Formats: sequence, C-alpha cells, structure tokens
Amino acid sequence: MARITAGIATSHVPAIGAAIDNDRTADPYWKPLFDGYRESRQWLSDHRPDVVILVYNDHASAFSLDIVPTFAVGCAEKFAPADEGWGPRPVPVVEGHPEFAAHLVQSVIQQDFDLTIVNRMDVDHGLTVPLSLLFGQPAAWPVRVIPLAVNVVLYPPPSGRRCYQLGKALRRAVESFDEDLTVQVWGTGGMSHQLQGPRAGLINQPWDNAFLDRLVEDPEALAQVPHLEYVREAGSEGVELVMWLLMRGALSHRVRTIRRFYHVPASNTAVGHLILEDLG
Ligand code: DHB
Ligand code: FE
Repeated sequence: MARITAGIATSHVPAIGAAIDNDRTADPYWKPLFDGYRESRQWLSDHRPDVVILVYNDHASAFSLDIVPTFAVGCAEKFAPADEGWGPRPVPVVEGHPEFAAHLVQSVIQQDFDLTIVNRMDVDHGLTVPLSLLFGQPAAWPVRVIPLAVNVVLYPPPSGRRCYQLGKALRRAVESFDEDLTVQVWGTGGMSHQLQGPRAGLINQPWDNAFLDRLVEDPEALAQVPHLEYVREAGSEGVELVMWLLMRGALSHRVRTIRRFYHVPASNTAVGHLILEDLG
C-alpha cells in the first residue's frame, strides 16, 4: 500500500529560482533565506519519498487564460520546465508517475471531485522553485513528481475548505494504491504578497505566523477562512495559501513539526516553510 509520510509547505518566489540559477545564493540578500532551508535539505535526504504529489499553481505558463482548470493532475511521464519569458530554467525535466497518477485521478474523481486530467504540460516556477529549494541543483530530481495544479490566478479560486477536503480525498486515493510507495504531499505558494495595484508590496507577518500556527494545530477551523480574508490580510497573491490546506488535508490530524521557517523579504513575498511528519 502507498502511504503518506510527510507534508512540506514552501513559498515559490521566481526570484529564488533566478538566485540559484545565477549562483547568487551566498549574496547577503539571499543567504539568510537559503540558510533557512539547509536543515530541511538534510532532513529530506534522510527521509526521501518515492513520490512527491506537488500542489502548486501555474502562472499562465502551461494553461493560457483561455482555459483555466480549477484542479488539474499531471498524468504524463515527463514535465519540462516552462519558458516564462527568459527561457526555461536550467533544471532537470520532472519525471512523473503515470500509473500512480492515473490511480489518483480515478479514485479522487470517483469521490466526486472533478479533476482535469493533463497528459502534456510544462511546469513553471510554481513547481520548480520548491524542488530547487529542497533538493538543490542535482543532475536529475531524486524523486518522481505528480503535479497537482490549482487555479489561484484567475478569479474565482477554490475555497480553502474545498482544498482541504480534496486533500482528504487524495489521502484515501494514495492509501488505496496497491504498491509500496512512500509519498510526500507538498503545498506551495504564499505567504502574504501582493504584486499588483495600490497595495503592491503588502506583507502581513502577524497574519502569516498565525496561519502557520493554525495550519498545524487547527486546520479544520483554518479551512473555513473565506477568500476575502486572504485577500484583505495576505494580499491578492496571498490566496495561493489555499494550496497549503490541500497538503494539510492529505495528512493525518496528528503531525509533528520537523521544521518551521519564516523569512521576509524575498522579492515581494514573505517566505514560509514547514515540514510536518505524518504520525498516522
Ligand atoms: C513573486 C511572487 C510570486 O508568487 C509569483 O508567482 C511571482 C512573483 C514575487 O514576489 O516577485
Ligand atoms: Fe506565485
């Protein structure tokens, strides 16, 4: 049986990818951020799963604004880095797990979630920056990855509650796969940031830290928070945080915090990071 061993949350700021790709991680601006992930990389090399289900958002790279699925699962064998305007990032192609992904979509759709099946797509910074933060710069990514894309770019995004419930369905799907696989679920994006309009540059450290507390301790109540609170308190792009609730829903209620890190600033974004071990 496949089983979920841990959940990881991390922000996905594209400038972090550029800092890694251009060898700037030791710059005074970036060093404290990358130092914050060093122990996490060590933990991950000691607790490497077979597969990561990586919950992220596409930024109009794979899906143009012509068609925007609310939830989409990558069922392909491979996912190439997307060209976001400066050429594709020089990172390895992401290896998928088509058989496991097909099982997940079958199970989750039959639990009444209308997922979009994606057989070909490129993956942008939303997916590749979390991989870089947690695996560094290997010649090949050391795990297989199933991308689970959530629309948080074009209004209306799904509610935190819907994401949390989908996480629960995802857990049942994982546990009904008849092969011994260890699985981590990663929730990415956030924390507070707003890239547009008069409030561009908004960061809300108290709200972010309360979100981290509540995600660990009281996710059921956190899942009831409406969009309006995310946008008001965490900025228009802070609504990316609903993806962290998808990860949390996929974990047991009982978790142990292995890592917690929060850092401001990284580009326009407050960076948050958690590793939660699933206690079953
Ligand atoms: C930034 C953050 C994001 O989440 C994103 O998708 C693009 C840019 C930023 O802080 O610059
Ligand atoms: Fe983003």
